[in-house]
Amino acid sequence: MRWLILGGSGQIGEALGERLVGRGDTVVGTYRNRPPRVPGMEPLRWEKGGPTDLPWARLRPDAVIDAASFRFVDDCERHPDAADRINHRGTARAARGARKVGARYLLISTDYVFGAPTPAPHPESELPEPRCAYARSLRAAEIALLAEDDRSTIVRTSTVYSWRPRDLDVVPDLSAAPNFATWLVAETRARRPVRVVVDQVSAPTYAPDLADILVAILDHPDCTGVLHATGSTSLARYAWALRLLDAIGEAPDRIVPVTTASLGQAAPRPSNSTLGMARLTREIGRTMPDLDAQLPRWAHAVRASA
Ligand SMILES: NC(=O)c1ccc[n+]([C@@H]2O[C@H](COP(=O)([O-])OP(=O)(O)OC[C@H]3O[C@@H](n4cnc5c(N)ncnc54)[C@H](OP(=O)(O)O)[C@@H]3O)[C@@H](O)[C@H]2O)c1
Repeated sequence: MRWLILGGSGQIGEALGERLVGRGDTVVGTYRNRPPRVPGMEPLRWEKGGPTDLPWARLRPDAVIDAASFRFVDDCERHPDAADRINHRGTARAARGARKVGARYLLISTDYVFGAPTPAPHPESELPEPRCAYARSLRAAEIALLAEDDRSTIVRTSTVYSWRPRDLDVVPDLSAAPNFATWLVAETRARRPVRVVVDQVSAPTYAPDLADILVAILDHPDCTGVLHATGSTSLARYAWALRLLDAIGEAPDRIVPVTTASLGQAAPRPSNSTLGMARLTREIGRTMPDLDAQLPRWAHAVRASA
């Protein structure tokens, strides 16, 4: 099989690339700034929403996995036109190219499409009501993608984290951090106090677990439309922070519990974006690991690189 991973240098793209290369498939992974570090994955520089099209005739993938987006939600709120250009129109354009060469398209989307305070967990059948520019742009991408080709798949996920030591070089502040867990480790090691919200509930998803389930979904070409795939523990961000630090043997004494309102973030966040995963269980026959199963592996990776 020939795979094209858009955002091949991201935490999801790299984890997925490792698995596909590992089983002997041909994988091209795009990047914008930092080339992917997966041995055997061919790097390709490309800007989503930019002027240059992907070299479809040369690549001729069997399937495209789109894990490339402008995903910093507060920046998206300040620059909604860029969010729409990259996340919505960039996806629509790439999907058109994929369809012309007969490639299936799988888009990674977000739990944030459920912005309204409707009861959680949100099933796949619930009509999304995005309330921030990031989520609106990805919801528009979902709609455009399904209109382009009804063989497409959308996998909504949530609060993805991983451990890649090189991410420590690019942890400016939480709003543009590679992921919350890496940011928390960086701040803890720097002995800085961190403010963490008590009133945003979601389901943390370990990137390697998401990559495993994505491979299973890709191996079911008949599995089209919307699927949800997150870790199977849902908890407030503050409770998660305590679990992360406990897993690596760090004291939580610099974590300050705060409310969302007190942070004055540019983009509104859902209060509970937990996703229902009935389709995943029914059609793929798999469930996702809970936090107890995720944390020892993440902590082992953190300790191994210390
Ligand atoms: N992380 C989460 O919690 C989460 C939750 C729900 C959904 N998602 C979705 O999952 C996808 C991947 O997330 P992730 O956590 O793997 O993100 P990530 O680690 O930040 O990776 C993002 C990838 O997209 C690339 N990229 C960003 N902007 C681009 C642009 N304008 N043109 C081309 N490439 C661009 C990045 O390249 P460079 O590194 O070279 O810039 C990188 O390869 C995103 O689409 C996101 O919306 C993520």
